[in-house]
Amino acid sequence: MAKLLVAGVSVLSIGITGCTPVLEEQAERGTLLSQAESTITSRRAIADVQALVELGPRVTGTPVMEQARAYLIEQYTRAGYETKTQTFTYPKFEDLGSNITVNGRTINGRALNGSIAGKQSARLVAVPNVGQASDFAAVDVKGAIALVRRGEIPFLQKAQNAANAGAVGVVIINNESSDLYGTLGGEVQIPVLALSGKVGNSLFESQQSQVSLAVNTRQRTVTGTNVIAHLPGVTQPRVIVGGHYDSVPGSPGANDNASGTAVVLDIARNMAQTTLARQAWFVAFDGEEDGLHGSRYFVSQAQPSFLEGLDAMLNFDMVGVNDQLLVGGTQSLTKLTQATQSDISIFGSQGGSDHAPFARAGVPVLFFYRGQEPNYHTPNDKSVEPRLLDETSQVGFNVLKQILNSDTVSVAM
Ligand code: BES
Ligand code: ZN
Repeated sequence: MAKLLVAGVSVLSIGITGCTPVLEEQAERGTLLSQAESTITSRRAIADVQALVELGPRVTGTPVMEQARAYLIEQYTRAGYETKTQTFTYPKFEDLGSNITVNGRTINGRALNGSIAGKQSARLVAVPNVGQASDFAAVDVKGAIALVRRGEIPFLQKAQNAANAGAVGVVIINNESSDLYGTLGGEVQIPVLALSGKVGNSLFESQQSQVSLAVNTRQRTVTGTNVIAHLPGVTQPRVIVGGHYDSVPGSPGANDNASGTAVVLDIARNMAQTTLARQAWFVAFDGEEDGLHGSRYFVSQAQPSFLEGLDAMLNFDMVGVNDQLLVGGTQSLTKLTQATQSDISIFGSQGGSDHAPFARAGVPVLFFYRGQEPNYHTPNDKSVEPRLLDETSQVGFNVLKQILNSDTVSVAM
């Protein structure tokens, strides 16, 4: 694969020395890449995806991310760009495995996001209704573990009512048979475990007396790093082209989102041959999977005038699987995209990604995406279709040409 990459680069560099003005002219007229050029494009984008996937899951704050970063920096540098990194930190909550043991049988649950860690062996008391303060008045939970049903009032209030009544732990039962992934949303001095309706309801009915609760959580500070690439001296771009390069734990993140990372890099390589490159910044965002931390930080650090100077932010996330290319975002830009390429569907916003913080800051945005797929956030997200990377890259480049060649961009939502 290294060979393929080297070969691709050398072929392209021969092409560049021979015909830079032609490429520039083509770009400015908005013509498609020729067949030969598009083959090179596709081979390099798939090589980028493979290089990132081979590193293993790209979890923010891990050494793999340093390798992914080194790879991206090398590629952007080779394409003629300057790179800088932007580092940020955020607190990350982790459940390392939490459960309740009844009669020697361990039942797995999920710690509520934000719960303190704790181990307690105590009486189990089933609290009537949904755990209002008045419900706790009807039972004695002092020194006990309170078993409460989900619903009507926030988790935080149930847990606080339990703590106020003297309980040493709380177990919340989902109101559906499935697992419960919830967030506490505030501070409580006792550990809080969530159980699926399936196991929780049978526990509620079983009237067990003695149980052991184990909530095994930790909160740590994670450091993320965005990679920003632009031509030397470009301090005020008109467009930002970006995508996240982190993935969820356990997933190699080929489609989510080595695909978008590779497409952004591919657009950068193709644009480097044109004068349009002086209008763009390219960003690989980190910390997306933990809550859009990289893009939020980028926006928070940008001067208001920098953001006002942007005509568009283009985000590419999950663009290597599924034939249908979808685009979401600011109406004027989704319309412009459809005018450029009529077979693209417009979709309403679903799921969060890195364009969202820019949209909230008033920047017109476009979100390129190919829809859900079975391998999303699983260990099987390990391959993408080269043809789809290529198509996305060309559409993205064409849209950028349109945006950059129009003097005024309407920002109507
Ligand atoms: N690639 C997804 C974004 C996505 C998923 C967009 C489905 C549209 C539909 C992204 O990496 C992700 O998983 N985002 C999270 C939200 C984020 C704020 C943690 C999501 O959508 O659940
Ligand atoms: Zn993603």
